[in-house]
Amino acid sequence: MKHKRSKFKGSFGFVLAAAGSAVGLGNIWRFPYLAAKDGGGLFLVVYIALALTFGFTLLTTEISIGRNTKQSPLTAYGKLHKKFSFIGPIAYIVPFLIMPYYCVIGGWVLKYFITFLTGHGIDATKDTYFTGFITDKVWPIVFLAIFLLICAIIIYKGVSGGIEKTSRIMMPILIVLVVGIAIFSLTLHSKGEDGKVITGLHGLKVYLIPNFEGVTVKKFFFIVMDALGQLFYSLSVAMGIMITYGSYVPDKSHLVKSINQIEIFDTLVAFLAGIMIIPAVFVFMGADGMSAGPSLMFVSLPKVFASMGKIGNVIGALFFGMVLFAAITSGISILEAIVSSLMDKFKFSRIKATTFETVIALIIGTIVCLGYNLLYFEVKLPNGSVGQILDILDYVSNYILMPVVSIGTCILIGWVLKPQFIISEATKNGEKFGRKTLYIIMIKYICPILLLILLLMSLGLIK
Ligand code: PHE
Repeated sequence: MKHKRSKFKGSFGFVLAAAGSAVGLGNIWRFPYLAAKDGGGLFLVVYIALALTFGFTLLTTEISIGRNTKQSPLTAYGKLHKKFSFIGPIAYIVPFLIMPYYCVIGGWVLKYFITFLTGHGIDATKDTYFTGFITDKVWPIVFLAIFLLICAIIIYKGVSGGIEKTSRIMMPILIVLVVGIAIFSLTLHSKGEDGKVITGLHGLKVYLIPNFEGVTVKKFFFIVMDALGQLFYSLSVAMGIMITYGSYVPDKSHLVKSINQIEIFDTLVAFLAGIMIIPAVFVFMGADGMSAGPSLMFVSLPKVFASMGKIGNVIGALFFGMVLFAAITSGISILEAIVSSLMDKFKFSRIKATTFETVIALIIGTIVCLGYNLLYFEVKLPNGSVGQILDILDYVSNYILMPVVSIGTCILIGWVLKPQFIISEATKNGEKFGRKTLYIIMIKYICPILLLILLLMSLGLIK
């Protein structure tokens, strides 16, 4: 008997699931940081322009590939074109490498959520709290295992019963929390050393008003590349996820509309994350308080919450609860890309594929955790940063393999199968494809060139 492919029950369920994947740690800890660093409103304008062109093109392409082939990444490319089947395994390795370390970070989020929930937020303000936790030999592994298990249970329950249902619950709550915390953040104020009152609205200005100070052509180029890299990561493209989710979209659903909604959702949450974080950091730590990545979320923000007084613990708990939801809906999407590939290629059952990958992610994730103690070393990466095992996995997947997968996809669609292939898939129920010419130019020329520049920068060849 031929196995029947799972499906999302409704278009909106699909939109929420895909948006759930797209909205993740990147939106919360990287977007606000980049905006603050890259001229506030200037970065926002560049980002939105890229989202409407570059983001729209890649997202449309991957979701359409999924729906057309009804395959996950490992097998989808071969189904499109024999000669391009080599992209499949690379597109499979990306989520395979990301899964373990994303769950390690998911475990950190869980730990902080519990810390604040139990009223111990103040402990997290100590400078040694974060490093103390991640260098511990046992606890990070325990939290990784719990986070992973949560994702595994959801994936085991399947596409509509697990992923769609979870997204339908978590995403609306996430939005309410983000909006609520953002409004709260704007009402904050503190007295500076000179006695002047600094308010959240001052911070909002820093975020929204374009700042052209010191912007040269070269600097502008790097702002564009920052926005591009962020968008690329944020939309969950080149990770096999959107192909996988696309393969579960019913043929009759309006793809173009769903894609627009996913993009708006992702950009909106990133934008709101800025309103949530920048004013709060600005009020309590000043303009220099913004940092990127883990240190923003796990070191600076707990201090910001503590400065709010008693209510800080509650806000902190709500904040980390929200981040946890964002991380879970991203974590399940990456796990599904792997599980679905194993099911398509090796005809594994869902339970077998989920168990198999969970065990592997647990083993590699444990090694990642040990990278901060027993297996500690420092390695200098070609893009200039210094890191541990987690950073190596992140570098290889995000900075090298993802651009490679996407460039390959652009060549396959733009030049071999031709853009009309995707346009026809997206409009097969007679829908209107608004940005047709734009799509064609983007997929053939602009996207691959931009991605190539991104790749060369990651390799340290453009400085
Ligand atoms: N789009 C996610 C984010 O912004 C990235 C991601 C998705 C990472 C899924 C891993 C898994 O955080």
